Amino acid sequence: MTTLDQIQFKNKRVIVRADFNVPIQDGKIQDDTRIKYTLPTLEKILKQNPKYLIIIAHQGRPKGEKVPELSLKLHSKKLAELLGKKVTLVENALANKLPQEKGVMIFENIRYFDEESKDKEKRKDFAKHLAQFADVYINDAFACSHRAHASTYDLPKMVEEKGMGLLLEKEINALSPLLKNPEHPVVLLLGGAKINTKIGIIKNFKDRADTICVGGAMGTTFLHAMGYEIGKSLCEKDKIETAQEILLSMEDQKERFIIPRDVVIADELKDNAVTANLPIRDIDYNESAFDIGLKTIDLFVEKIQGAKTIIWNGPMGVYEHKSFQNGTRKIAEAIANSGATSIVGGGDSVDAIHRFGISPGKFTHVSTGGGAMLEFLEGRKLPGIEALR
Ligand code: 3PG
Repeated sequence: MTTLDQIQFKNKRVIVRADFNVPIQDGKIQDDTRIKYTLPTLEKILKQNPKYLIIIAHQGRPKGEKVPELSLKLHSKKLAELLGKKVTLVENALANKLPQEKGVMIFENIRYFDEESKDKEKRKDFAKHLAQFADVYINDAFACSHRAHASTYDLPKMVEEKGMGLLLEKEINALSPLLKNPEHPVVLLLGGAKINTKIGIIKNFKDRADTICVGGAMGTTFLHAMGYEIGKSLCEKDKIETAQEILLSMEDQKERFIIPRDVVIADELKDNAVTANLPIRDIDYNESAFDIGLKTIDLFVEKIQGAKTIIWNGPMGVYEHKSFQNGTRKIAEAIANSGATSIVGGGDSVDAIHRFGISPGKFTHVSTGGGAMLEFLEGRKLPGIEALR
C-alpha cells in the first residue's frame, strides 16, 4: 500500500477519511484523542500546500437522519484549535460546489447521508459524487475501516491516487505482528458486555494465545452457560449456546481459558453500594456481579506478569463506578507495568486508562479501533484497507 511519503500533495485536491467519532457529553468533547492522533497526517499534507484539504468523518450512528447532537461542529472547532488554522464546516456533502474559501474543510457528519451506508448502488453514486472533489484520497480512519461504506470503501476505488495515513499505518504495523509472530507467552484479556463481537477473536486466538482471560459481563455469560446462578447480573441470554460451544471447544485446555472464579456483587449499581467479594457458586438470585473478584484478579495478574505479549479489549467490570473499578484498574496497572509488548483497544478500555491516570505511553500500542481492532485480529480483511490496495 502507498504510504504518505510516496505521494506529492502540492496543488492537489486532497480528501482524508478520518475517524473523529469521540465521546460527547453535555455538548463537550470528553476525549479528543482520535482527533489529535490524526494531526500528524493532516499536518504533513498541509506542509506541502495542497490546493485544499477535505476531511470526511462521522459521529455516532445517525442512520441518515440529521441528528443535531451528532453534528461535527464541535469537531471542526477542536480541529481548528489544534491545527491553528481556519476549518470550514461544509454542511451538505451532496452539493456539487465547495465553498469559495477552501483551505481546510470538514464535511458535516457523513452518516447524516443515507447514501454513506445504504445499498451498494447508492453508495457507489455517493462515492462518485465525492470523488469529483479529489485527486488524492488518504485513509487515516483505522477505527472505521471495518465498515464497507461509501467514504471508506467505494471512494478510494474511484480516486486515482490513494494511500494510508500515518495513523492507519501505525495501527497496521502494531497489530500485524500479533497475527504473525508474537512473542510467547501470549495472553489475551477480554471483557465488556458483548460476546458476539469477540467470538471471532476468541476463535482466531484459541491456538495463538497461551491464555485467554475473560471478565466483565462476558464473564458472567460464560458462568451462566456453565450452569452457575448469576442472579440479576448482565448476561447475553441469547448467546448462551455460543458460550457453551466455546467452552466445549476448550474443554481439554481449561487452564488456558480462564473465566472468573469470584466476583464483586451488590444489590444496586451505585458508587457507595454495599458490596461483597463472593466465589461464583455463592451468587444469590437477587444479586448482580459488577466486577471480577480478588482471586480472579490475582489469577489474571499472574498471567499478565508471565506474558511476553498482551492484548486487552474490554473492561472487567462497571469501571465507571468506584465500587466496581478494582478489576479493570488492577488489570490495566499490571499490563502497564508488565514490560511485555502490550496492545490495548476498545473505547471503554482506553477510557478506563485515562480515568485511572495511566499514561498511554506505558503501553506498546493503544489502538484507536474498537470493532476494527477486533476484526483485524480475527484475521479478517478490513474493507477500508483492502480498498487502498
Ligand atoms: C468506532 O467508534 O469504533 C468507530 O468510529 C466505528 O463506529 P461504528 O461502530 O458506529 O461503525
